[in-house]
Amino acid sequence: MSGVTVVDHPVLAHRVAQLRDRATDGDTFRQLVSEVSGLLAYEAMRDLGTAEVTVDTPVADAALARRVTEVVLLVPILRAGLGMVQAIQEIVPLTEVAHVGLRRDETTLRSEVYLNRLPENLGGRRVLVCDPMLATGGSLGQVCELVAARGAAEVIALCVLASEPGLAAFRGAHPRVQVYCAAVDPGLNDNGFIVPGLGDAGDRLFGPPD
Ligand code: PRP
Repeated sequence: MSGVTVVDHPVLAHRVAQLRDRATDGDTFRQLVSEVSGLLAYEAMRDLGTAEVTVDTPVADAALARRVTEVVLLVPILRAGLGMVQAIQEIVPLTEVAHVGLRRDETTLRSEVYLNRLPENLGGRRVLVCDPMLATGGSLGQVCELVAARGAAEVIALCVLASEPGLAAFRGAHPRVQVYCAAVDPGLNDNGFIVPGLGDAGDRLFGPPD
């Protein structure tokens, strides 16, 4: 599917298998979400803005080198997106974080925004929206609309897992948003869970919400 990069790598596949396993405990699940997020960010940030600099190495003066100059805005979708932030910050040198909270109604499957800490003006910024799960794609779509309305220059979505129908719907509505994920699953069940999926990422990361 155009605009979608499914990062195909054994070290990711191995971790996704562990994430899917219902026997994986909470601490391990959190660690795995982190590791997968860092690897996805590494792949998605290949064209990060850099500038040429000089550094004095132990054996030469003013050796040419490159440093990252672009500041990327991370937008984690609460709650589950929070589990991705620290690992991405460990990989991407210059970041800021703006939190957005969405709660999906389990009956209608529509999401409601309960927190929006996006900067008023995102003109010229590259935004990385983080949510481990793209199920129907509704939550990610809503956040991409909020981000676009504030003038972001480029929006990239990082998801651990996406469903095929959700991805198709999301791409139809947001063709300019590039999606990076570790795997795409065939479907959704009646409760809007990705199948075979990995269950409820928010609950596995943080416990039940109420
Ligand atoms: C889940 C998940 C995504 C969203 C995906 O969040 O973490 O944010 O649903 O569904 P969609 O693609 O159909 O919109 P949930 O509402 O369960 O909140 P939580 O992360 O706080 O658990």
